[in-house]
Amino acid sequence: AITVDPADKGAKIDDTMYGVFFEDINRAADGGLYAELVQNRSFEYSTDDNTAYTPLTSWTVAGAAQVVNDDGRLNARNRNYLSLSAGSAVTNAGYNTGVHVEAGKKYDFSVWARAEAGTALSVALTDTDGSLAAARQAAVKGGWAQYKATFTATRTSSTGRLTVAASDAAALDMVSLFPRDTYKHEPNGLRTDLAEKVAALHPGFVRFPGGCLVNTGSMQDYSEASGYQRKRSYQWKDTVGPVETRATNSNVWGYNQSYGLGYYEYFRLAEDIGAMPLPVVPALVTGCGQNRAVDDDALLKRHIQDTLDLIEFANGPVTSTWGKLRARMGHPKPFHLTHIEVGNEENLPVEFFARFQQFRTAIDAKYPYMTVISNSGPDDAGSTFDTAWRLNRDADVDMVDEHYYNSPQWFLQNNDRYDTYSRSGPEVFLGEYASGGNAFKNGLAEAAYMTGLERNADVVKLASYAPLFANEDYVQWRPDMVWFNNHASWSSADYEVQKLFMTNVGDRVVPSTATGTPSLTGPISGAVGLSTWNTTAAYDDVKVTDADGNTLLSDDFSGDAGQWTHTGTGSWAVQDGQYVQTAEAAENTMVSAGDPNWHDYDLRVKATKKSGR
Ligand code: AHR
Repeated sequence: AITVDPADKGAKIDDTMYGVFFEDINRAADGGLYAELVQNRSFEYSTDDNTAYTPLTSWTVAGAAQVVNDDGRLNARNRNYLSLSAGSAVTNAGYNTGVHVEAGKKYDFSVWARAEAGTALSVALTDTDGSLAAARQAAVKGGWAQYKATFTATRTSSTGRLTVAASDAAALDMVSLFPRDTYKHEPNGLRTDLAEKVAALHPGFVRFPGGCLVNTGSMQDYSEASGYQRKRSYQWKDTVGPVETRATNSNVWGYNQSYGLGYYEYFRLAEDIGAMPLPVVPALVTGCGQNRAVDDDALLKRHIQDTLDLIEFANGPVTSTWGKLRARMGHPKPFHLTHIEVGNEENLPVEFFARFQQFRTAIDAKYPYMTVISNSGPDDAGSTFDTAWRLNRDADVDMVDEHYYNSPQWFLQNNDRYDTYSRSGPEVFLGEYASGGNAFKNGLAEAAYMTGLERNADVVKLASYAPLFANEDYVQWRPDMVWFNNHASWSSADYEVQKLFMTNVGDRVVPSTATGTPSLTGPISGAVGLSTWNTTAAYDDVKVTDADGNTLLSDDFSGDAGQWTHTGTGSWAVQDGQYVQTAEAAENTMVSAGDPNWHDYDLRVKATKKSGR
């Protein structure tokens, strides 16, 4: 029986409680939310981004062309350009299967070009069946200038190619093709279907730009003095101003980020969808496996000043240095930033906190209205987490970000997690969580868990599932909430759950009590789960059945072991029809990785043997 007392007013639930976390992972930005159709438009791809990359990745050359890095460049932060010989052409392959265009729609082409002696440029949009739009021509003469043309697609295709041909020698940079129909028709805008999926959630906030993206890599800037370093942490000043002056960067997830989708565009997105912007800045410690505290006081001061400048960029008057840039970019009105997070999932809590306090002091002094969010590291338990929480609590920090990725069972079993959190300590921002799959059972477990968040809305103030997006052909992390390729997008059960909660945020918790013990049967909690089904280190004929004897999952390891992953030490491989431990491990847990054909069960098999076969 459930008893509800409507007179007994429980915690107030803020409208901003449920939000989204956007990180440029799984090509969520370039080749994703950022509507640019040309891949590697400024010839900046590098082996620093990905060992398979060259400055001509995604381009093919007919005739002669080379990427040049010399004083003839477009500007100091855009190092490379293409030198195209007379009578030659370059073709871009876009993302996934190619450039996607839809019949009747307009596409805006632009290029920066230089041809002292003059050249005719011819631009064509084609696929293997022929032309996709009438070709366009431009007469180029003199130094660097931008040339523009508009295509109207005559056919729909997802395998388009964009070709730029020159009659005479020319230098090219920033070769770009945008759909006219970006979200809200913004220039340098976002892909409509993906932005609409985010907007349909009515998120209370947008946390951006990461994630590990923020707190990994060098903390240096992109300048001559620091040797134009790549593999930099995400630094907001790299990502604003005219796109051709934005320094591209290596992305920790193994590709290049153009920063065409930068801080201005994030703020604009948040505003367009009525969400509170919530940026994350690096705290001069690296995490996500890199785990290094940067001891450089001048650099720390520079990053603290950058953070103050970011607040000025968002909120400052148009007469201020950074407010003026915001106005020049098209937004004289402020973006009303109220929350900022310093550091992401920091696993050096002591070193992080010493730096966090310096950021916090400086922000509080200049912008006392800002909520400065700290974090509690990568785990939901253990000494790192405990130390982080102790430091945050002792210093009376406003809000602490927690992250955890766990099984559906864990989410079901930990619904009461926040019931015992202190009401006098920092508030909680659950910045990243997911239950390890995109199946219905995951959505269900997350929904159940969210009732526990909501019940504790007096202490859990913000919550966002993670990650938001994945391009199906470039995946570094799963599960993800929304999937896409170059022409379609689709959402998961987790998305539907988030939407359900975000579009039905209550005003207050109505306390209720239940009697009786709910029992869960079936695959979510019962038939499988962590088991010691086999304690030897070699497996064959794995078979899981439910209570009725139906086979839920089986594998004779005659092929590969694609659906299995391991946590723990040691390594594993399929050999002679057995799944074997090939390097010593004290303990290992093997988990089915969620192939939907295998019903997405979390079979966990614990191997405790110490040696190999
Ligand atoms: O959401 C994916 C990653 O998970 C984030 O980048 C990081 O913060 C966490 O480890």
